[in-house]
Amino acid sequence: MQTGWENAGGSAQPLPYGRGSERGAGRETHRNPADLLRVEGLSVRLRAPGRGGVVRAVEDVSFRVERGGRFGIVGESGCGKSTLVRALLRLVPATGGRVELDGVDVLSAPAATLRTLRRRAQIVFQDPQASLNPRLTVDLIVGEALHAHRLVRSATERRERVAQLLRDVGLPAEALDRHPHEFSGGQRQRIGIARALALAPELLICDEAVSALDVSVRAQILNLLADLRDQRGIAYLFVSHDLHVVHAFCDQLAVMYLGRFVEQGPAAQLLHDPRHPYTSALLEAAGVGAGPPLDPGEPPSPLSPPAGCALHPRCPLAEDRCRRETPELRSIGERLVACHVARETGAERGPGVA
Ligand SMILES: Nc1ncnc2c1ncn2[C@@H]1O[C@H](COP(=O)(O)OP(=O)(O)OP(=O)(O)O)[C@@H](O)[C@H]1O
Ligand code: SF4
Ligand SMILES: [Mg+2]
Repeated sequence: MQTGWENAGGSAQPLPYGRGSERGAGRETHRNPADLLRVEGLSVRLRAPGRGGVVRAVEDVSFRVERGGRFGIVGESGCGKSTLVRALLRLVPATGGRVELDGVDVLSAPAATLRTLRRRAQIVFQDPQASLNPRLTVDLIVGEALHAHRLVRSATERRERVAQLLRDVGLPAEALDRHPHEFSGGQRQRIGIARALALAPELLICDEAVSALDVSVRAQILNLLADLRDQRGIAYLFVSHDLHVVHAFCDQLAVMYLGRFVEQGPAAQLLHDPRHPYTSALLEAAGVGAGPPLDPGEPPSPLSPPAGCALHPRCPLAEDRCRRETPELRSIGERLVACHVARETGAERGPGVA
């Protein structure tokens, strides 16, 4: 698998969506039969515990993931990445918008349909320790879904299927009868991936799935995910705060700030020639950019986002207009950018990518 910055994004696809004001629930946009997941104008508002008020965790987010595609979402802690992916499968309720998995409306699906949809799209979480029941053996953890969906008729058949899944993720069949605490962090994440693969999903949602792992194990797991993609044609929605990881893995990328996508498009373009100041600042912080850093300071609270562009208190390029007017996503070539001053044309010299 490629891991260097220089090789990202070979199969970039133009995004069919129009400007932000044209998007949203109930509005028809171009339908591409290659789309597996379509998200339009998704918003999630959560009641802030204890303090009162409403957290605007996800605001008017639109994107699509093609069959076999690799879509990355990157942004600082607390920007809404996990809430977004959970809302896709109704693990948290959406406030507005539309989500389609293979053309089926997820947000209004009846319980039986939702059950099938959740089988087709599986989530791998960040912390394998927390997401695996410590009292169960690997056989039962991985085989639980097979049993629940009546895909096996006996314990013997379940064990055979689980043993194969373990082999698929590089674990020995002897792991069947062991408990999660008997494995390393990387091995536990392989168990989590085997569990997600048990139902043969078409979409694997990885929410910081490699963030808890050290660098060498992280590379092994990314290689495993890439192999699975090549062998099974699985599409990925890959969430990370780490640009190096999304660069290695994704062909489409969205940069999220305070609940909104501020730049989205082909990963290679965003990472080599960012147009939004926040994308530039993330690259700068990752040590691979040459853009101006953000002004120091914490991100604003999603309980009371700043007026105008939410980045303006930290943005080195902010103008008066930015304090008053919220920038809509606008098309610049193959990408969408929400910034009043974003360049329309490429930089003469891109950021300092090796
Ligand atoms: N159940 C909840 N109730 C209220 N607010 C919540 C809830 N879950 C998350 N939030 C808030 O929503 C915002 C987005 O949180 P979320 O966990 O989606 O961010 P994230 O980008 O996944 O962060 P991280 O990178 O740390 O995982 C944060 O301000 C968070 O405090
Ligand atoms: S709209 Fe203004 S504040 Fe927002 S990112 Fe662009 S320049 Fe910065
Ligand atoms: Mg998260």
